[in-house]
Amino acid sequence: MPRKILVTSALPYANGPLHFGHIIEAVQTDVWVRYQRMRGHDCLYVCAEDAHGTPIMIKAKAEGTTPEALIARVAAEHRADYEGFLIGHDHFHSTHTPETQYFTNLMYERLRDAGYMTRRSVRQAYDEQAAMFLPDRFVRGTCPRCKTADQYGDSCENCGATYTPADLVDPVSTVSGTRPVWRDSEHIFFALGRFEPMLREWLASGSLQPAVQAKLAEWFEAGLQDWDISRDAPYFGFEVPDAPGKYFYVWFDAPIGYLGSFKALAAKRGLDVDAYLKPDSTAEMYHFIGKDISYFHTLFWPAVLHGAGFRRPTAVFVHGFLTVNGAKMSKSRGSFITARRYLQRLPPEPLRYYFAAKLGPGVDDIDLSLEDFTARVNSDIVGKLVNIASRCAGFIERGGGRLAAQLPDPALYAEFSGAAERIGAAFEGRDYSGAIRDIMLLADKANQYVDQHKPWTLAKDPAKADEVRAVATQGINMFRALITYLAPVLPAMAAAAGRFLGAPVGRWDDVQSPLLGTALERYEPLAVRLDPKVVATLIEAPAEAPPAKPTGAAQATKVTKVAEAAGAAAPKAAAAGASPAAPERIRIDDFTKLDLRVAKVLAAAAVEGSDKLLQLTLDLGSERRNVFSGIRSAYRPEDLVGRFVVMIANLEPRKMRFGVSEGMVLCASARDDAGGIFLLSADAGVQPGMKVS
Ligand code: MSP
Ligand code: ZN
Repeated sequence: MPRKILVTSALPYANGPLHFGHIIEAVQTDVWVRYQRMRGHDCLYVCAEDAHGTPIMIKAKAEGTTPEALIARVAAEHRADYEGFLIGHDHFHSTHTPETQYFTNLMYERLRDAGYMTRRSVRQAYDEQAAMFLPDRFVRGTCPRCKTADQYGDSCENCGATYTPADLVDPVSTVSGTRPVWRDSEHIFFALGRFEPMLREWLASGSLQPAVQAKLAEWFEAGLQDWDISRDAPYFGFEVPDAPGKYFYVWFDAPIGYLGSFKALAAKRGLDVDAYLKPDSTAEMYHFIGKDISYFHTLFWPAVLHGAGFRRPTAVFVHGFLTVNGAKMSKSRGSFITARRYLQRLPPEPLRYYFAAKLGPGVDDIDLSLEDFTARVNSDIVGKLVNIASRCAGFIERGGGRLAAQLPDPALYAEFSGAAERIGAAFEGRDYSGAIRDIMLLADKANQYVDQHKPWTLAKDPAKADEVRAVATQGINMFRALITYLAPVLPAMAAAAGRFLGAPVGRWDDVQSPLLGTALERYEPLAVRLDPKVVATLIEAPAEAPPAKPTGAAQATKVTKVAEAAGAAAPKAAAAGASPAAPERIRIDDFTKLDLRVAKVLAAAAVEGSDKLLQLTLDLGSERRNVFSGIRSAYRPEDLVGRFVVMIANLEPRKMRFGVSEGMVLCASARDDAGGIFLLSADAGVQPGMKVS
């Protein structure tokens, strides 16, 4: 019996580009969906833009546009990126739509009428200049525990303390830069705690991975708190029907966006929405998400669904976080790889393959090592898989273009076709890495078969033409089984293989009957090797010193980073083939990420082997820093000792040929450094360690 299945990936926020974290999730989901379809199940895959919330509202304002225009633009980019990675959404919607609003209001009203919504007053930071309440993340200040300056309003990055913005010493609104006041306002709360017995029962039904179950047990232990689902105007979202000026919090309507997207799809295809969503529905519903959003999906969401009279998810599938070359993706290391950056350089399937080869059923983090990526793809796809087809195709072609009428080694083929259930079970259980290991062992076997039978030697003897055809037929059929098993991961390659085989690759069960006696089409190469040099450019290179090109008039002076000492990466748009970007605007909270400090030069020396650098020893008040700075052309070391300079104190240390640079000194220069380089300094009275803002 075909199963009816509804599948989702988490909805990306509509205020930034898709990056590899989004793509690994989309690939994990897409592979699963394609596998289900190959098994003949009726599997629908929906997603959407997560369009609401304060960050989107503020970003739109900063760009001088409306939230609607911003989300439309970002959605178009997201769609193109998903398509580029062959993500087969049946529908991609937005939460800012009538469908999502319909379900949001309906669910809210049902939950309210059932007594799950309560109202009470909340004291919150308010920005009088911007005339708005401030989410915790939009207030910054000094940590009340360790006194580190410039921490978010909810937690300290230095000591890990969690608190509320009211606890901060010297709080500042990142929207206007002013000091917030505290104001009371009535909010609407969802009584999550009342769903604990239901959630415990749901948990026991085996809907969650062991690690996620353990997390839930911890949350139960800590006690389920009421959930504040409302926000005050101005807010970009849906207004609460019975509370003018109040809006639903973005995380209330975000998962409801799954249903909104499904409703839009149902309208397009004439599907029965209720059949999927009623409490006793026999349809299955699965959400693929990253571990950071488990709380919303394993507690709030099932409770909201259940309380509003809808079915619960059949399961929530949680994956770990993607790291690049062993570290968290980071803009400053250049390892925050966007979908666009990849697609401008490389085809999608190698990455789909690599992600699949790394994805298991658990929540462990997944590392993308660029070297391993290149090696694995070149060895597995080109060296093993495609090799089988390319080695055998010529023999069939030269022998008349038809496969033999029988397999010479049916027992060997039975090993391939007999793996279908085992490999299928691995896909079903999201153990893609296990499935791929299994498939590649079979690929080794197929190559060994061809090696042993040496069709190229047999082909020298015209009397052995039948034998050659038989060996090649065996090889081609083994290849067909393998590309069928890999079709969920490599859909475009599977389609191309289907054209070559003269028989579409599409159903899991097709491998049970080998292709015999049929004609093959001309073989075209199915994959090409990855060039490690191109792969290396996925990571943005660290900025280099601008070439000193003397020009006439020194124009507007600007504050520049001294590039040699910069750890931050600057995109080399032109060299990398990306389109040059318009100057990017930043928000005040981007600026406040910089920890600018006054430092005193304790020592300065020329650097052996560099004609640009000086090595500076800087006094930061509480500590000393070693910084390499490209100012040798402008300053004699001895003239610098005792001077006060401005430095970026929280720059990631950067290892250079001469030692580690632990920060950067700010200088002004003309656009091309032609008019010289000028250190920034401060007025008399300044002390080392003072904050610059
Ligand atoms: N908008 C919310 C989700 C709402 S779902 C009703 C959100 N958006 S997000 O853009 O921040 O993240 C979307 C998905 O990408 C999440 O599942 C998140 O876990 C995943 N990832 C974001 N960065 C990731 C990695 N570095 N690695 C793997 N997945 C990560 O959260
Ligand atoms: Zn702290």
